Amino acid sequence: MKFFIDTADIKEIKELAASGLLDGVTTNPSLVAKSGAANFIELITEICKVVPGPVSAEVAAMDYDTMLKEGERLAKIAPNVTVKLPLTYDGLRVCKVLSGQGIMTNVTLCFSANQALLAAKAGATFISPFIGRLDDVSMDGLQLISDIVQIYRNYPELSTEVLAASIRHPVHMLECAKIGADVATMPPAVLKQLFNHPLTDKGLAQFAADWEKSGQTIL
Ligand code: G3P
Repeated sequence: MKFFIDTADIKEIKELAASGLLDGVTTNPSLVAKSGAANFIELITEICKVVPGPVSAEVAAMDYDTMLKEGERLAKIAPNVTVKLPLTYDGLRVCKVLSGQGIMTNVTLCFSANQALLAAKAGATFISPFIGRLDDVSMDGLQLISDIVQIYRNYPELSTEVLAASIRHPVHMLECAKIGADVATMPPAVLKQLFNHPLTDKGLAQFAADWEKSGQTIL
């Protein structure tokens, strides 16, 4: 399973890239605005240097022609840029063209399995179903991940990877891993939570105290 982080904050990206556990980054217009970065192109350029895996950068336009131009511009930044496109008729048309050019694509704002099927037909590298936002409106976000994974498995000719997005807490992560999502993109805070367990802390404190008493050293 690949681990991506869902942030445009370069400081957080650098910190978590140092763990060696990061396979990619996803950004969206809201995260870019939140980061306070002055220049989107420069920001994506910097992120691509820090993380060698796929870095999703989202188009802003909604019409086919402008979206295509934006996508081609973003793809020129670095070979690991993944052009993020909305799950709309025009978005999928652009996806088909860019994928045909060998450019990585991530189709975002997916809320149904039929939408995911269309994205796969359009050659998307990744499909991003939003778990938390479905949960927010009393629908079952994890069920959507499960449906898409099952449908894609029925058709081995579809190579699109399921990128579980809008993950809000570690239980979402756990369930995505059990279902078999290919990728999960998490806010940095959720990734950090995965490391923690109270019994790990308790055990470590006990080991440290006992080691101190033993008077031993390693180095
Ligand atoms: O990047 C897309 C997605 O992960 C957004 O998550 O928490 O804003 O619904 P959220």
